[in-house]
Amino acid sequence: MTRPIQLPAWRALAEHQRDIANIHMRDLFATDPHRFERFSLRFGDLLFDYSKNRITETTLNLLLELARQSGLADRIAAMFRGDKINLTEHRAVLHVALRNRANRPILADGKDVMPEVNRVLDQMRKFTEAVRAGRWRGCTGKPIEAVVNIGIGGSDLGPKMAVKALTPYTDPSLRVRFVSNVDETDLMQNLEDLDPETTLFCVASKTFSTQETMVNAESARAWFLARVRDSAAIVKHFVAISTNAVKVAEFGIDPANMFEFWDWVGGRYSLWSAIGLPIALAVGMDRFEALLEGAHQVDEHFRTEPFERNIPVLMGLLGIWYGDFFSAETYAILPYDQYLEYLPTYLQQGDMESNGKSVDKEGRPVDYETGPIIFGQPGTNGQHAFYQLLHQGTKLVPCDFLAAAQSHHHLGRHHELLISNFIAQPEALMRGKTFEEAKTELETEGVAGEHLLTLAAAKTFPGNRPSNAILYRKLTPETLGSLIALYEHKIFVQGAIWNINSFDQMGVELGKRLAKTIFTELDDARPADSHDSSTNGLINHYKSLR
Ligand code: F6P
Repeated sequence: MTRPIQLPAWRALAEHQRDIANIHMRDLFATDPHRFERFSLRFGDLLFDYSKNRITETTLNLLLELARQSGLADRIAAMFRGDKINLTEHRAVLHVALRNRANRPILADGKDVMPEVNRVLDQMRKFTEAVRAGRWRGCTGKPIEAVVNIGIGGSDLGPKMAVKALTPYTDPSLRVRFVSNVDETDLMQNLEDLDPETTLFCVASKTFSTQETMVNAESARAWFLARVRDSAAIVKHFVAISTNAVKVAEFGIDPANMFEFWDWVGGRYSLWSAIGLPIALAVGMDRFEALLEGAHQVDEHFRTEPFERNIPVLMGLLGIWYGDFFSAETYAILPYDQYLEYLPTYLQQGDMESNGKSVDKEGRPVDYETGPIIFGQPGTNGQHAFYQLLHQGTKLVPCDFLAAAQSHHHLGRHHELLISNFIAQPEALMRGKTFEEAKTELETEGVAGEHLLTLAAAKTFPGNRPSNAILYRKLTPETLGSLIALYEHKIFVQGAIWNINSFDQMGVELGKRLAKTIFTELDDARPADSHDSSTNGLINHYKSLR
């Protein structure tokens, strides 16, 4: 496949960037009263405003041309068709099948996956309804009051993010917690106040061999047995979510209590599968299915809308515009919605594990930038932490601002204050404040002399800093499903254009392997000497301190 930078559209974009680099968005808005209408889209009642980007019609056309020349349409079709687009692992990528509410046949290895998907959804429904209604009882006959999900990465972040996001829909009599870190503090703090007789553990691991999860699951089982003293009770308190039935049985979980998913579901794309069981336990199966429906609607949009009206395609292209043509290295996700507190962390894995690659699909080193560093915090907290750099730092940080028009709560004018910040920050980033404006303001305040000039310089904002705004009616299960799917497909678009495999994660292997060796060395009384001097030094200092 042709390298992206050799595509005519890429070259044209590089040239165009030089033309546009000194154009200020202030002027683009001033000269075009219809800029908002021109550069915004609606998806249901969700508004995607991308007018505060450093683009003109020409930019957009070139970016769309890049998408076409990259064969994006074929790549999208290949994913939905069940082609093995995860080339290194020789797997299809079919999270879209998990939320295929139209039930259209989707084939993996020539076999329609939908009957299996629906079977597991039925199993999840029966189980979650039994737990939530108190029909599923613990070993001493008490109903379940706490669910502890033990998993990490994709087997933790998605459900954790969604359960937090959907808190207003949760049943307060069923607490849902997440344990992921191998640091014992995580497990111990979460179990501290729980009663084993009313606790259900969901051991969530695609492979059922991830060290952190297995160690936490074993310790949870030991905690449970130390208190309940009956191994026959495990069946009522431990369920597994995995693709690996053999390892689940070896761990001692009844295969009847295993919720299956498949190798064509990537970990970071798995919250739609049985990995979403804690979500369904927290909010009920109907709402879990509404989450799937919201994502399905975006899948249909992504699959069928022309690129110029296709929100994930535009999100992906805009990210490439800044990453590859303006040398932006980071991307900020800024939800003005406390319930989306974990969205930035979730998207860190989604984006960085998918597109943090430096060889292309043919194994050639890339000579262009790939995935950005994702970070973020809910507004307005971020404003008082890192926005200084966003406004006046030397780095260009494209941002996504997200907010709900309707809050789940009604407390004085809180929501209007929140929303005014959600609207003001992108405006400030775009407009900035010129030296002259700053100086005039200071003069009216009576500042004069040399201090005036220094202060005016410090109070100057360059502006021209790009952002998208996503404004939806209310954070419902359906809206959440749509939002996540928009980002998943944005990641897909970028991976396709960069010609990288967004669906493996080889980069996490090396550290894991080295940790195994070091783990055994920690037991050795002799000083370590087989590594570089720093690694030896750390091992030996640890041994001297413990
Ligand atoms: O971080 C590497 C990774 O393989 C992720 O892709 C995955 O989400 C996570 O580990 C957990 O894997 P598993 O679900 O197999 O325990």
